[in-house]
Amino acid sequence: MKACLITGGAGFIGSNFARMMVGRYPETHWVVLDKLTYAGRKENLSEIEKKSNFSFVRGDIVDTKQVERLFEEYRFENIFNFAAETHVDRSIESPGQFIMTDVYGAYVLLEAARKYEVKKFIQISTDEVYGSINEGSFSESSPLMPRNPYSASKAGAERMAYSYFATYQINVIITRASNNYGPYQYPEKLIPLFITNAIEGMDLPLYGDGKNIRDWIYVEDHVDALDVVLKYGKSGEVYNIGAGQELENRDVAQMICQQLEIDPTHIKPVKDRLGHDRRYSLNFDKMKALGWNPKKDFQTGLAETVSWYRDNQEWWKRIKSGEYKEYYQRMYGHQR
Ligand code: NAD
Ligand code: DAU
Repeated sequence: MKACLITGGAGFIGSNFARMMVGRYPETHWVVLDKLTYAGRKENLSEIEKKSNFSFVRGDIVDTKQVERLFEEYRFENIFNFAAETHVDRSIESPGQFIMTDVYGAYVLLEAARKYEVKKFIQISTDEVYGSINEGSFSESSPLMPRNPYSASKAGAERMAYSYFATYQINVIITRASNNYGPYQYPEKLIPLFITNAIEGMDLPLYGDGKNIRDWIYVEDHVDALDVVLKYGKSGEVYNIGAGQELENRDVAQMICQQLEIDPTHIKPVKDRLGHDRRYSLNFDKMKALGWNPKKDFQTGLAETVSWYRDNQEWWKRIKSGEYKEYYQRMYGHQR
């Protein structure tokens, strides 16, 4: 049975991806390698943990010995590298771990891919590597201009991956997705933070003037795109994965208030993020040419996401009562 590795598969996107692939490809053995940082949760994989074509391994992608042992055991055909530190605000507070995991970790995996002759190495990158754009959209050939420690680390990681294609002919493919939302997203990110705060009757802390723009893609559309990239993507290429659903943060906040029927006076302007990127926007014609299109419109996706957080309060309340409390206090101080 061939095996594929999903690093960071206990996080938000990785767990949605693992769930889909384990069901869709029963003839492949899917192995999740995850360190279970504050953002990774084993229970995100509970639906598939007993499947015979699935294994979970707790471990760190920067640990060369452990990574090599795993490659020796499974001889992976393909790798999807989701593992990363991912939250921009945490990268502004403390960049070191981002460089270690996102850049050095990618290097460790690439070395293993080189040694064990992996067929495809898919590096999950982000639209943030392009930096901010006031008008128009970024295409795959736009210059990279990351503007915060998170996006700079992700740019470093994907360029390292590309260098393994150019230098060692490893079949690397890079994807750059826009802002994901949906079930199992850690409630430090805008949408789950606002939904869960709204359910708890707390304020929704909106940075700056609230006019920053993000392009929101439903997580299932993103993971579908990755399956298409696995099948039809070309080595050495980059693929933008966007949704064409650009919204100002203040409008997202209003929609969440409407869906939960709470008073919009709960939306409270707070101090802006340092170096806050104004707008992200992707041209994703190249993905369309592979036959992929995003399916979920934002209104529907948001309603489904709100329902999921309403129905799974145990999941996020457990998170909010742990490490998160200190983080929230540091970030938002007295805000309730
Ligand atoms: P997440 O923070 O929810 O999950 C990250 C996962 O990586 C966690 O399970 C964590 O435990 C694991 N991890 C962290 N360090 C590790 C290490 N050293 N070794 C092994 N595992 C480790 O992140 P996410 O939002 O699911 O993002 C997944 C990937 O997609 C990241 O590479 C991110 O840069 C990229 N991405 C995210 C978005 C988005 O909107 N969330 C958009 C584009 C790209
Ligand atoms: O664009 C893709 C990126 O999207 C991914 O690569 C990152 O991993 C992911 O974290 C996300 O980054 P953002 O910084 O865009 O997402 P975040 O949810 O942190 O913030 C979205 C917008 O909302 C941004 O303009 C900042 C704003 N915001 C965020 C928080 C947490 C607020 O106004 N208030 C908040 O409390």
